[in-house]
Amino acid sequence: MHNEHWVFGYGSLIFRVDFPYIKKQPASITGWSRRFWQGSHDHRGLPHAPGRVVTLIESPGEPCAGMAYRVKEDVFEHLDHREKNGYRRVDTALHFDDGSKQEGTVYIAEVDNYAFLGAAPLDEIAAHIANSSGPSGHNIDYLLELDIALKNLGIEDSHVSELAKLARNITDQN
Ligand code: BEZ
Repeated sequence: MHNEHWVFGYGSLIFRVDFPYIKKQPASITGWSRRFWQGSHDHRGLPHAPGRVVTLIESPGEPCAGMAYRVKEDVFEHLDHREKNGYRRVDTALHFDDGSKQEGTVYIAEVDNYAFLGAAPLDEIAAHIANSSGPSGHNIDYLLELDIALKNLGIEDSHVSELAKLARNITDQN
């Protein structure tokens, strides 16, 4: 069907699936790492106090595992609106667990976008997340839901799991 496409989810698209899809399959892309380096002005923070959400950072040769969804073209309208805070669509190859490969689309917030926050020590990122919230809820819920969703898929991501551990410790102390 030529109005069907693959879209690759590596962040909230894994645990917040508010769009129709035809099928989903675990997949990975190559050359990118998931990092909590993007500011969120509209979901997990506010323009004057952005939260931190994931984007992909160029990392030659590195795999990034997530979930691919087969969607009709009109789903992109919804996702473009939902992910309007600095993300743009990038076409890339998706690798499936059975060894097959298909073209797909991924939303990436690049380093030159207006909401990009960039790297920081993990304990600072965890504290930032533990103390942020926005119209879509607490920033820590985004982090913990992503951590659980990745673990349920058998995906190991030490950046995410370390942050989840640190942020949990901060909120347990409060
Ligand atoms: C994703 O889960 O693929 C995603 C993350 C952030 C923005 C857009 C999409």
